[in-house]
Amino acid sequence: MNTHQSSSPVWQRTHRCGTVTATDAGRTVTLNGWLAKSRNLGGLLFLDLRDQTGKLQVVINPETQGDLFRRMESIRQESTLGVRGTVRLRPTEMRNAGMATGEVEILAEEIQVYTESEVLPFAISDITEASDALRLQYRYLDLRRDSMRDKILQRIRITQLFRKTLEEHGFLDFETPYLYKSTPEGAREFLVPSRVHPGSGYALPQSPQLFKQLLMISGFDRYYQIVKCFRDEDMRADRQPEFTQVDCEISFATLPLVLETFDAVMKKIVNEFYGCEKITSIPRMTHRYAMETYGCDKPDTRFGLELQDLSAVVKDVEFAVFQTALSQGGIVNAVVVPQQETFFSRKKLDEYTDLMKQSGLAGLGWAKVQAEGWQSPLGKFFSPAQIATVQTALGAKTGDVILFAAGARKTVQTGLGLLRNTLAKHLELTKPEDVRFLWVTEFPAFEYDEDNKRWVACHHPFTSPNFEDLDRLETDPGSVRAWAYDLVCNGFELGGGSIRIHQPELQERVFALLGLSPEETEQKFGFLLKALRLGAPPHGGIALGLDRIAMILTGSDAIRDVIAFPKTQRATCLLTGSPSPFPEKSLTELHLQWKDLP
Ligand code: AMO
Repeated sequence: MNTHQSSSPVWQRTHRCGTVTATDAGRTVTLNGWLAKSRNLGGLLFLDLRDQTGKLQVVINPETQGDLFRRMESIRQESTLGVRGTVRLRPTEMRNAGMATGEVEILAEEIQVYTESEVLPFAISDITEASDALRLQYRYLDLRRDSMRDKILQRIRITQLFRKTLEEHGFLDFETPYLYKSTPEGAREFLVPSRVHPGSGYALPQSPQLFKQLLMISGFDRYYQIVKCFRDEDMRADRQPEFTQVDCEISFATLPLVLETFDAVMKKIVNEFYGCEKITSIPRMTHRYAMETYGCDKPDTRFGLELQDLSAVVKDVEFAVFQTALSQGGIVNAVVVPQQETFFSRKKLDEYTDLMKQSGLAGLGWAKVQAEGWQSPLGKFFSPAQIATVQTALGAKTGDVILFAAGARKTVQTGLGLLRNTLAKHLELTKPEDVRFLWVTEFPAFEYDEDNKRWVACHHPFTSPNFEDLDRLETDPGSVRAWAYDLVCNGFELGGGSIRIHQPELQERVFALLGLSPEETEQKFGFLLKALRLGAPPHGGIALGLDRIAMILTGSDAIRDVIAFPKTQRATCLLTGSPSPFPEKSLTELHLQWKDLP
């Protein structure tokens, strides 16, 4: 090895900007960073130097450093510099309590300009007027802003905490292929044509589900992987086409073991992240209870406004909408909004009625509870005794507003669930720093897809039905519960998992229920069935959405804030300009030709 040190043009730093404190006063330091700001005040030149750890003030005195002063006076912001100088305490009146290094400054002795920046497309400041598109086009500049840099650093910390905690629990860090087999279940896939096998190709994995199951069959008993997954879905604030899962699997697992393990893992990570006992337990709630109480399988439990079933209470009320719903096996539910009579203007009520209609309901009934009775278009259908019974059943008081919905069970629940979340936003009932985790358990195993007239798996086809319900698998699939669970927080699904099917016969029954012929089963999942026949341990696991967890823990509005290079709503990368047309040469090599382009 050549140990000879050539003189490097890059100065080796002795400190990072954000770490210099009053205890360093008198020391000579070398720093590298970006010129965040420069200002000439009372003849002295003040530069703010920024690196990954924060900012530090550098001072140039023209009386002692005339040349340096003149050279640095005209240097553009965001140029990269090396600074050598002495740390000193700022005069008391110049101390800045709002800055971590606000007690000190560097009296510059030497400055090296590594690169000089051109004029910036937007200023690097925490409050920016730059459009989202411009910020994404210059994402590397956007990431220089303190708030953005902090979010990325916090995400990295969360990743570190996952690795550390999972390894403490005996999980081993695996890798699985990205070039995978196309199995068009679930979301749309991203396809990769093969050059060596013309006419065939790979799919990018939506998750490493089957590989982690195969690793359990190999005999590894605790798997984890922090892994990119790819799904060609419509985008939302909590969805990206490529995202990261903390994917885990345990062999010889039971449902209580998996939940206990990830209960402990999540509590540790969340509490270490916040540096305090932020959560002491993660409550559990069945899917049925979540739907009945919150109208949603990922309830935000930071606020009340729970759904209440009034079906029995209003069965004699002569209101056609209620009567029709009940006679058709539907339900009548209500939500009480406490002490918000004035909030519900005519305009607001119309807006919420429209929301209910978009959810497939006939409309929204409402009643303002007043001392003298109800102000309500439904009032005339209720006798005074019925009004009193409804109020008692709901615990509604003068000043409250009751919102009613009637119709098919699922439509009423999801409609009111949506209304509940919308009201919480409009009434500002939640604080982002408040985090409420919960487990939703006992999901249904299957649901009927009306459009395609077939049963589909609610989680995925490898999820084990609850053995107590197995006798109804073919006769009443809709009533079969799965050994599946979701981790939910503040209205977001942060993770999902299940106990898997480890018996080949049961896996075949499930494929048959899902409408796969024996030939299709063999062609798509023959390798899995074979593996299940060759000594498969009972196993189960979970995948946690790292981006969503980082979004919640950093109090961000969208996952793109915690992804260094996210895609836009239209799945494009404005920085690099992808997707882009393929070069003709590649198309020829791959025997590909675009057809019917719009
Ligand atoms: P599932 O499909 O529920 O389960 O995904 C697990 C978690 O991944 C996150 N997630 C996403 N995050 C951002 N953008 C997306 N497009 C996106 N899609 C999903 C969510 C979700 O809870 N193989 C199973 C897991 C298992 O059974 O172990 C799976 O992938 O936070």
